[in-house]
Amino acid sequence: MARRKIIAGNWKMNMTPSEAVALVETLKPLVQNEDVDVVFGVPAIDIVPVVEACKGTNIAVAAENMYFEESGAYTGEIAPKMLVDAGVKYVILGHSERRDYFKETDADINKKVLKAIEHGITPIMCCGESLEQREQGITMDFIRQQVKIGLQNVTADQAKNLVIAYEPIWAIGTGKTATSQQAEEVCKGIRQCIAEIYDDATAAEIRIQYGGSVNAGNAAELFAMEDIDGGLVGGASLKPDFGKIVCYNK
Ligand code: 13P
Repeated sequence: MARRKIIAGNWKMNMTPSEAVALVETLKPLVQNEDVDVVFGVPAIDIVPVVEACKGTNIAVAAENMYFEESGAYTGEIAPKMLVDAGVKYVILGHSERRDYFKETDADINKKVLKAIEHGITPIMCCGESLEQREQGITMDFIRQQVKIGLQNVTADQAKNLVIAYEPIWAIGTGKTATSQQAEEVCKGIRQCIAEIYDDATAAEIRIQYGGSVNAGNAAELFAMEDIDGGLVGGASLKPDFGKIVCYNK
């Protein structure tokens, strides 16, 4: 069975609530592609108006983060059941910006992955190496560790529904995309790692995205690779170009 492509925007810390609704209205007609799952990852304050604006469309909404506790004295955090109640279907977890600026560890991300699954939210779990790690030749060692710890205590059945986003840090926001061969090599390596943790059937089902300077010009080539099941798109998800990325096969 062929894996269905999933193409997600990560708006990061952009768009006020009113700008967010305007962007959804602009993008709605441009992201019609029945072959693809389309996701908008938006800032927490934009979730409610964006879910409302996306009603009746093919667009699902993702949060960009979530806390791993149910509720309580965690000032400033967002609980999983708040996301569920607001209509969120996916959550981006462990983005390199959260690991770097907010010191999230693999163990934190694992707790969040488990919590999201418990609440029926699909994690988009991010991984990816720095330029230094790539130059040292430890890309796959590093990513295997991120994936193995991130998926601790996740069952094979649960893992099948997850999304993993491979985002080399050196390609994020730099305009320097990994070549389709470089991206494929790591995505294939992640799939092998999943097969080792679970089995071939799980590895065959899990969807692995590439992220890092994806744009309308390179999306089709990246998404044509055997082990790349779509993209996690930053800058270009804020522009009408996102429609071209989603409709890469048209
Ligand atoms: P860019 O597409 O802006 O490089 O960002 C990638 C990213 O970090 C998506 O999560």
